[in-house]
Amino acid sequence: MNDLLKHVAQRAGRYLEDLGERRVAPSPEALAGLTRLDGPLPDGPTDPEAVIALLDEVGAPATMGTAGGRYFGFVIGGALPTALAANWLAGAWDQNAGSGVSSPLAATVEEIALRWLLDVLGLPPQCGGAFVTGATMANFTALAGARQDVLQKVGWDVARQGLFGAPPITVVVGAEVHPTVLKALSMLGLGRERVVTTPVDGQGRMRADALPTLSGPAIVCIQAGNVNTGAFDPADLICRWAHDAGAWVHVDGAFGLWAAASPTRAHLVAGYAEADSWATDAHKWLNVPYDSGVALFRDPAALRTTLRLQAAYLLPGPSRDPYDYTPESSRRARGIEIWAALRSLGRSGLADLVERTCRHASRFAEGLHAAGYEILNEVALNQVLVAFGDAETTRRVIADLQADGTCWCGGTLWQDRTAMRISVSSWATTEADVERSLAAMLRVAEDVMHHA
Ligand SMILES: Cc1ncc(COP(=O)(O)O)c(C=O)c1O
Repeated sequence: MNDLLKHVAQRAGRYLEDLGERRVAPSPEALAGLTRLDGPLPDGPTDPEAVIALLDEVGAPATMGTAGGRYFGFVIGGALPTALAANWLAGAWDQNAGSGVSSPLAATVEEIALRWLLDVLGLPPQCGGAFVTGATMANFTALAGARQDVLQKVGWDVARQGLFGAPPITVVVGAEVHPTVLKALSMLGLGRERVVTTPVDGQGRMRADALPTLSGPAIVCIQAGNVNTGAFDPADLICRWAHDAGAWVHVDGAFGLWAAASPTRAHLVAGYAEADSWATDAHKWLNVPYDSGVALFRDPAALRTTLRLQAAYLLPGPSRDPYDYTPESSRRARGIEIWAALRSLGRSGLADLVERTCRHASRFAEGLHAAGYEILNEVALNQVLVAFGDAETTRRVIADLQADGTCWCGGTLWQDRTAMRISVSSWATTEADVERSLAAMLRVAEDVMHHA
C-alpha cells in the first residue's frame, strides 16, 4: 500500500507540473486513446501498480487542464495544494461522515469548518449547515428547509404529510435564475415552470421595482453572482420586501457569496446576510477538489424536521449527526478539505485569492477592450463577457481558441448576444497565465477576422 501511494504521489506531482506547459484541452489523439481503458471486464485481478500506470498514461493526457492556471470555462476552481493533500489523507482515512458515531472526527472537523465558513462569508454565527456535493444540491437542501418552514407556518407538515393537498407556495425567481435552482425546485415538487419570474436589468439583477405582490406561503430565490456577468441581486431591498410579507429568502451564492471574504469586494454582498438560507460551492472559489458545496440556514430546525433520519440502530452521537441535515446518509468527509483550505489560507490568503482572481478578470477585460472588442458586462467580480463582433465571428473565435490549446473559454448567450465567457476562479492562475492567454485570444481573434 505504502509503495503504491508513494508511486501515485509521484505521478500526480508530475501531472500537475506538466500542466503548466501542456495544452489545456486534450488533443483528439489523447481522447481517442481512451479506448485503451475499455475492453471486457478482466476475469481476474490486475496488479495495482499496473492499473494506476494505465490510468495515468492513458487518462492524464485526456484530462481537461482545469487544475492548471489557464482554464477559464464555466466557473471552475482548481485545487489548493493543502486541500488536495487533505483530500488524499481523508481518502486514506475513508471516514463515513454521515453520523457522529461513524466518524466523530469528521463531525467535529465539519463543525469547525462550518463556523469558519460563516465567519468568512459574513453570515450569522448561529446558522446551521450541510456539506453536500455542490451548489445544485445545496440549493435543493436549503429549499427543502424553506418548503418545510413556509408550510409549517400555515399548519402543514410537508415532511410528514407530503405535498398532495398542501397549500400552494409562491416561488419568486429572477429572469436570470441559475438553472440548478429550477432543477432543485422541480425535485422538490415546486415545479420549474410555476415560478413567478421577476424581470432583470442589463446585468441580470432582479429589478426591485418590478417585484410581485406576495400573499400566503412564499419563497424568494435571489442570486449572489450571476453565472454570466457576476452581478448581484439587490438583496437588502428584496429581503425587506419579502420578510414584510412573511416570505423566506434563499440565496444562490455558488461563487458570488465569496466576495464577502475580500474587503474590496464585500460591498457586493451587502444585505445578503439578511436572507434565511444560502447555497454556495467550495469547489469553485475556495478551490477545494470536487465535489464540495455547502447549504447554510439561519434556523436549522426546519431542515432537521425535513431531513432527519431515524431508525432503531441509529443512535445519536455526542455531536450533531450530519445526516439529519443532508439528503445523503453515508458520504465522504468533504468538510475536511474545506477546513484545510481555510486553515492554510487564513483570512488574508482567502481575501487575496478573491482579489487576485478579480484583478485577473479586469485585466482580461481591459486588454480585450483596448483591442477593440466589446465587453458586455460590468466587470465587478471574476466574470467577463466579450463579443468579437457578430454571433458567427464570436463562435468561431471560441472554437479556434479551444483548439489552439493555450487556454480554454466557453460561450454563452447573454441577453440575445453571443459572447465568450471568461471566469477566473483558480488559485493557480498567475499574471503570466493571464498575459499568455490574452495574447492567444487576440491572436486567434485577429486570425478569424483576417479570414472572414
Ligand atoms: C449561480 C450558480 N448557481 C449554481 C451553480 C451550480 O453549481 P454546481 O455545478 O456546483 O452544482 C452554479 C455553477 O456554476 C452557479 O454559477
